[in-house]
Amino acid sequence: MPNPFKPTAGMTPPVLVGRADDIEDFSYALDDGVGAPGRLMYLTGARGVGKTVMLNALGDVARHRDWLVIDETAESGFLGRLINALHEGSKSRLSSVTMPTASVSGLGLPVGVSLNLGAAQFSREERALDFRRAMSERLDALSRKHRGILITLDEVQASGISEMRALATAVQHLIREHRDVAFIFAGLPSMVEDVINDDVLTFLRRAERKHLGDVSLDDVKRAFATTIEDNGRHASDSVLSMLAQATNGYPFMIQLVGYWAWRASQTGPYADDETITEEAAARGIAQAKIKLGDMVHGPAVDGLSAMARDYLLAMAQDDGPSSTGEIAKRLERDATYANVYRTQLIKEDIIYQSSYGYVDFKLPYLRDYLREHGAYHQMRRTIKGL
Ligand SMILES: Nc1ncnc2c1ncn2[C@@H]1O[C@H](COP(=O)(O)OP(=O)(O)O)[C@@H](O)[C@H]1O
Ligand SMILES: [Mg+2]
Repeated sequence: MPNPFKPTAGMTPPVLVGRADDIEDFSYALDDGVGAPGRLMYLTGARGVGKTVMLNALGDVARHRDWLVIDETAESGFLGRLINALHEGSKSRLSSVTMPTASVSGLGLPVGVSLNLGAAQFSREERALDFRRAMSERLDALSRKHRGILITLDEVQASGISEMRALATAVQHLIREHRDVAFIFAGLPSMVEDVINDDVLTFLRRAERKHLGDVSLDDVKRAFATTIEDNGRHASDSVLSMLAQATNGYPFMIQLVGYWAWRASQTGPYADDETITEEAAARGIAQAKIKLGDMVHGPAVDGLSAMARDYLLAMAQDDGPSSTGEIAKRLERDATYANVYRTQLIKEDIIYQSSYGYVDFKLPYLRDYLREHGAYHQMRRTIKGL
């Protein structure tokens, strides 16, 4: 039997744990008709919490209703790619897609010369208009069959803000025109917040916000039981509990623990014809923790400022919740300064306030990771500072 667990970013898991309500909300919004609030949504949450997988699941909800679904990542040029995707399969493919670069090179500017604001403004409006036109044309064709268009945009970040503005202008118009559309954006909490707080994008503040978090351990345990039994293996109730506990309800860890425990039951010293033994489970959990470090903790910690990283390293000295006053002392900073980083880390879902004046790690096993890799992060910083 192939391993049913999918510990890969963006891969749909065998059981999507704990998201039934969110999916139900979106189904309702689609059936509720034009203008339903849930048709404009943004998903946030830490790395590995399941944003991309949710976009896929919500896309499936729309596809089930025969909607046209276009998935894009908010990397530079996404608006042009969306326009192309809208033209795909329709006769007007080669119609007037005015690429902004074309109008710029028409001005005879050498490459690399920065445009004045007027020209930049112009190209943004131009692109917004192109996108609107492409949406309208496609919607006209679809609406004869009563179908709408869902656009999902993953990895929203501050660097793509000018294209986001163009998209937002168009979306606002389409909503005002009562078109059958839905938009879902996804990104890390701080990234999405930067975009939402942009003056031009104020209307996005009215979008429904889903902050994805941990899922319940009962649900995790049930998902393990179903996935393991459905795929021809067996695990006792106590092994299932052990596996569920080890995930801390963190979605990426569900797949990692499942994958490595399954694998330990197939090959190596704890292989068994049909059962995931306690030993295999323990081995799998140990492997899963290592992989979590490589796949989640590493990138998460690397993406932080040096000071935020120091804050985490200072926390890792404690075996449990850390006093914020004590952390400030360890950092040799005043409380106000340390508080800036505390707030930032809380926003990113990396730590949380466990009680008044105390913080603790939210990403599971981050403390262990930092203790093992702390020296490395510290050293890298010293080298950079030379
Ligand atoms: N609700 C869930 N239940 C079980 N596994 C999940 C769930 N959400 C995500 N996963 C798994 O977690 C991993 C990360 O999901 P992904 O959508 O890439 O996270 P993000 O986009 O938030 O970084 C994938 O292996 C995916 O299969
Ligand atoms: Mg993702």
